[in-house]
Amino acid sequence: MRILPRSAFGQTVLLIGFLLLINQVVSWVSMVYYIIQPNTQLTNELLAKQVRVVLIDDDLLRKAFSRSFQEKTGIEVYRESDALSSGLAEATYLAHRSKEMSKLLDGDAELRLTQGGEQYIFWIRPPQSPHYWIRIPLSGLEEANFSPLTVVLIFLGLLSVIGGWLFVRQINSPLKALQKAAEDVGRGEFPQPLAEQGTTEIVAVTQAFNHMSRGIKQLEDDRNLLMAGISHDLRTPLTRIRLAAEMMSTQDEFLKEGIEGDIDDMNSIIDQFIDYIRHNSKDKPELCDLNHLINDVMQTEMISGRQIKFLEQELPEIPLRFVAMKRAVANIIQNALRYSDGDIEITTGISDNKQSVYFCVCDSGPGILEEDIERLFQPFTQGDIARGTEGSGLGLAIIKKIVNTHGGHVHLTNREEGGLSAKVLLPIK
Ligand SMILES: Nc1ncnc2c1ncn2[C@@H]1O[C@H](COP(=O)(O)OP(=O)(O)O)[C@@H](O)[C@H]1O
Ligand SMILES: [Mg+2]
Repeated sequence: MRILPRSAFGQTVLLIGFLLLINQVVSWVSMVYYIIQPNTQLTNELLAKQVRVVLIDDDLLRKAFSRSFQEKTGIEVYRESDALSSGLAEATYLAHRSKEMSKLLDGDAELRLTQGGEQYIFWIRPPQSPHYWIRIPLSGLEEANFSPLTVVLIFLGLLSVIGGWLFVRQINSPLKALQKAAEDVGRGEFPQPLAEQGTTEIVAVTQAFNHMSRGIKQLEDDRNLLMAGISHDLRTPLTRIRLAAEMMSTQDEFLKEGIEGDIDDMNSIIDQFIDYIRHNSKDKPELCDLNHLINDVMQTEMISGRQIKFLEQELPEIPLRFVAMKRAVANIIQNALRYSDGDIEITTGISDNKQSVYFCVCDSGPGILEEDIERLFQPFTQGDIARGTEGSGLGLAIIKKIVNTHGGHVHLTNREEGGLSAKVLLPIK
């Protein structure tokens, strides 16, 4: 189980929270150590002095019972029974302070405290005359009110979390842009260079990304130019060869057919080249029905002597680059026809999570070795069974490119009953 958050925001908040906690603990400890304790000690000494004054001699003690003494000093002396009825009973016994008081008064003293609003009333039983209780009221001293401290700490905490949030958002927004741009590049689209903003590290990453993206684009442009050049330059001599073959004498009929077959193959390879380059043409996505598209392709790809079964399910319309998607479907069907002998089955439907529609082309051929599947999606790669056939090794690359530009996925799996199943998932939104 993961306890630590994974997002930068979560981690920052956790870190700030942890630091604040330490800060709070340190604050409280230093508060107690440097303010509350010395304060308590001071009060205790003050109280002990007053007690000593009252008890300086019996004469003064007697006077202390008088009203005028009480009015002038605020200090009152009671016998225990009177003290109990005058508030001692409600006062709380403070063990630690009693011990300190005992030390200060050289004997077994007891200290009790009542707190009423601003006023603190100390009851002290001096060791010198344990039958008496001395009541000393003090106001405005004692422990400071700590709620402002708590408020400040909570405020600081909130401020830090908000600050952390803003900071992380500041860092994350260029990262988000970077992620989106990287996904675009992965799909074969080349976005505008990203704005170089944010912290120096992010700027460095953005610069590196822009550089990489430019490099990939350059590479792709060069390759496309090369392929377009070759395709174009081959067309003319091919046409010339075909013309020459037409003019061959009837004795060479067999040779002539062979040449024409080869020319057809070469033309279809050139077509594949051009398809591969052209995938990103102006073809804009439009809402259309996948079933309708597949029916269209089936009409053109049908070969005599082969059966294509189409089990269609009602589908919602999805945005498709019609021409490009037709090319992808055609390539999948061509592969199924080329690499198997039996019937082909095409099914359509909606995925279990209702997020995508799919079509699946199943054949009963030999299938593909599991470890080859990934590799065969690369351009110009062919499997063993294709050696010597007219393919160019571009079919699957074209399919993948087109499907990816639609935000979809291609899955090739070997069917249990034999044969390959090529499933293409396309997002509904
Ligand atoms: N339906 C299929 N059944 C078996 N193998 C297949 C199937 N589709 C493709 N393959 C294998 O994948 C390889 C690559 O396919 P593709 O990219 O279309 O190139 P090409 O068809 O031009 O050889 C093929 O050479 C073939 O070995
Ligand atoms: Mg192919």
